[in-house]
Amino acid sequence: MRFDVLTLLPELFEAPLAGGVLGRAVSSGAIELHLHNIRDFTSDKHRTVDDSPYGGGAGMVMKPEPITRALESVAGEGARPFVILTTPQGAPLTQSMAKTLSAKDRIVIICGRYEGVDERVRALADMEVSIGDYVLTGGELPALVIIDSVGRLCAGVLGSENSAKDDSFTDGLLEYPQYTRPEVFRGAKVPEVLTSGDHAGIERWRRRESLRRTFERRPDLLDAMGDIGLTDEDKLFIAELRKS
Ligand code: 6GU
Repeated sequence: MRFDVLTLLPELFEAPLAGGVLGRAVSSGAIELHLHNIRDFTSDKHRTVDDSPYGGGAGMVMKPEPITRALESVAGEGARPFVILTTPQGAPLTQSMAKTLSAKDRIVIICGRYEGVDERVRALADMEVSIGDYVLTGGELPALVIIDSVGRLCAGVLGSENSAKDDSFTDGLLEYPQYTRPEVFRGAKVPEVLTSGDHAGIERWRRRESLRRTFERRPDLLDAMGDIGLTDEDKLFIAELRKS
């Protein structure tokens, strides 16, 4: 997967990519990341990237020409990329969206700033993405969130090919509780089934705890699933949860 990021603040990407799973994926070449400073695509003496809004009002608006030239410059380098514009008005990022995006060869992310980009920039994007219903100062943190969530699903990024398999949201449910040594920590014991060696019992316990967690914390996710992905046993267990 190749990501190209168009931003006014490329330095914001340094620390998050200096280490961890994502940093290693970039070092190893599993993920290719190219940062482009939109200011480098201005043509006036002052390298102007924004201007006041037509019609008046507070804040500045990102001009369309530098972003368009930056996009033309990076898109010309190979196969036509999929273009994302970060904006709080975009479609909310979900695990299933991340999965779909991880199948693309190339993604360009245009980092908008909160005050806004000229409306005509929207025409450049295949998709507008938000990372949640709150306001950020710019699209750089959202771009990193998109790169992290999409990048970890790309081949060769996670150590074991199936460590994304049981993630929360992957099957529409929250993940089951995890434990490691010691078996007793300050009086709190690891659930017995997990040390029993009974693999079928462990699978069943995990499925139930996953359902319980989702029921307690994110009933909206369970409702959204409807019947899809739920076995008869799951449905009986949920019916029990509703009664208690
Ligand atoms: Cl993508 N951008 C900004 N500026 N704020 C946000 C956002 C994006 N997603 C949530 N809040």
